[in-house]
Amino acid sequence: MIKLTVNGAERSFDGDPDMPLLWYLRDELGLTGSKFGCGAALCGVCTVHLGGAATRACVTPISAAQGQSVVTIEGLSPDGNHPVQAAWRELNVSQCGYCQTGQIMQAASLLNETPKPTDAEIDGAMSGNLCRCGTYPRIRAAIHKAAGNTANSGERL
Ligand code: FES
Ligand code: FES
Repeated sequence: MIKLTVNGAERSFDGDPDMPLLWYLRDELGLTGSKFGCGAALCGVCTVHLGGAATRACVTPISAAQGQSVVTIEGLSPDGNHPVQAAWRELNVSQCGYCQTGQIMQAASLLNETPKPTDAEIDGAMSGNLCRCGTYPRIRAAIHKAAGNTANSGERL
C-alpha cells in the first residue's frame, strides 16, 4: 500500500507500484491539469512537485511518492493566485495552453529555490519545458514579474 498526500489530502494506492504517477493523478484522482506529451521526460508538460521538487510525473513510478507530498497545478494555490499564476495571467503567457501547466509548476519550483533568478537561471531551469507555440519570452518575463524583479530580458513579448 502506497501512502502519499496529493494537494494536501491523504491518499493511498494499492495497485501497480510501477504505474506512472501521471496516470494515478489523471486517471485515478481526475486531476487532469497535468498533461501527457512525450512520456519520456523530454517535454515537461507533466511536471508536478514531488517532495517540493519539480518532477516529470510521466516517468516517475507512483512508488517513488511513498510518504511524499505531491502538488499539482490544481493545488498550487487555493484560489489560483500563486504569484506565478497571477503573473501568467497579467502577461497573457498562454497560447494553446497545452504546455502551460508544466511551465507554471517548473517556474514555481524555480522561485522556491531561487527567489530572484537571472535570465540565465531562468533559461537553465526552464530549458526542459518545451512550448510549441513559442511563448518563451513571455514565460521569462512572467517569471521575473512573479519574482518582483524590475529588470527583465528586454525581449519583445
Ligand atoms: S510527458 Fe512527461 S516530460 Fe513529456
Ligand atoms: S502554449 Fe502551446 S505549447 Fe506552449
